[in-house]
Amino acid sequence: MRAHTAPLRIMLGALALLAIAAAASPVAAQSQSVNPTKSAVSEQQLLQQSKTIRGLGSIPDTKSYTLEQPGGDWRHFHQVTLRWIGGIAILGMLALLVIFYLSRGMLRIEAGRSGRTIVRFNAFERFVHWMTAVCFVILALSGLNITFGRPLLLPLMTPEGFSAFSQWAKYLHNYLSFPFTLGVVLIFLMWLGGNLPTRVDLDWLKRGGGMIGHDRPPAYRFNAGQKLIYWVVVLGGAAIAASGYLLIFPFYGTTIGAMQLAEVVHGIVAMLFIATMLAHIYIGTIGMEGAFEAMGSGSVDLNWAKEHHSLWLEEEGAHNRAGPPQGQPAIVIRE
Ligand code: HEM
Repeated sequence: MRAHTAPLRIMLGALALLAIAAAASPVAAQSQSVNPTKSAVSEQQLLQQSKTIRGLGSIPDTKSYTLEQPGGDWRHFHQVTLRWIGGIAILGMLALLVIFYLSRGMLRIEAGRSGRTIVRFNAFERFVHWMTAVCFVILALSGLNITFGRPLLLPLMTPEGFSAFSQWAKYLHNYLSFPFTLGVVLIFLMWLGGNLPTRVDLDWLKRGGGMIGHDRPPAYRFNAGQKLIYWVVVLGGAAIAASGYLLIFPFYGTTIGAMQLAEVVHGIVAMLFIATMLAHIYIGTIGMEGAFEAMGSGSVDLNWAKEHHSLWLEEEGAHNRAGPPQGQPAIVIRE
């Protein structure tokens, strides 16, 4: 019986050996010649199976023990979602402004210029405004380069040129954050008094701010629209500065998750902030006759003040009639 089964057992043994050799051969082949694409694929599979790959370490920085961590949701946010948010907010706002300008044109001083002017912003206020504004514009452009530079600018430049440009843009972005933050703090302190909500704001809003038709609703020094801009600057500025400093000084009390959250907040606030400031820049330039002078020379035409800030003008008149409070100059009206 044993003699009869011996050939069968030998055959079965040989088959088993062949099966083992066949199963082992890809591993053997892989170890002999490295296929970079193939190893990347298997690394990708490994990453999909476990979210992070960690090792052991002996240095105090435990973050460094994480060898690989897929970007996942964050990378998708950075490369896709943020671009959509920015594109819709900024191009949408530009489209609205173009439509508004084409249908309404520049808001004119209805009564025409009187030729007499009144001081609206002193030199210090104008200096703070322009310091903040110049920083903001450079921060906005250099920030947009981080989000949109690769798809929009890189195809128009050499890779070396784009790298050099982006590096300088990043330096500007980091260093100008300091004067910008200072400007936001000063704006908050300088104009807080004029930007607290009052009952007049409701009426101003109900009447569409005088944007439609020839209505000119009364307002104190700042109308409801300007108060909105002020609070966007103060609160948006605070959020963008706080999240930005977490990014400039990474891992000071923040985890990788918190850093990703800071980047998400920074990106979204920035896009909405830029879109809002486009509306502000529009009104301050081609949108309204006589507005730019307020931040240019510092004085506005009396008729402009009457039409857009009648209650403020009354206050200033009363201030002069009563004699200026001690230590304060009289309001200058130039003929
Ligand atoms: C870069 C172009 C800009 C122009 C042409 C411009 C123009 C003006 C003008 C003319 C005013 C005075 C409005 C009035 O008298 O009633 C003003 C006020 C103001 N600006 Fe700007 N501005 C610019 C950018 C900025 C930026 C980037 C910020 C802040 C990030 C800013 C913040 C403010 C604030 C808070 C006020 C007071 C509230 C208001 O009038 O809306 N401005 N600006």
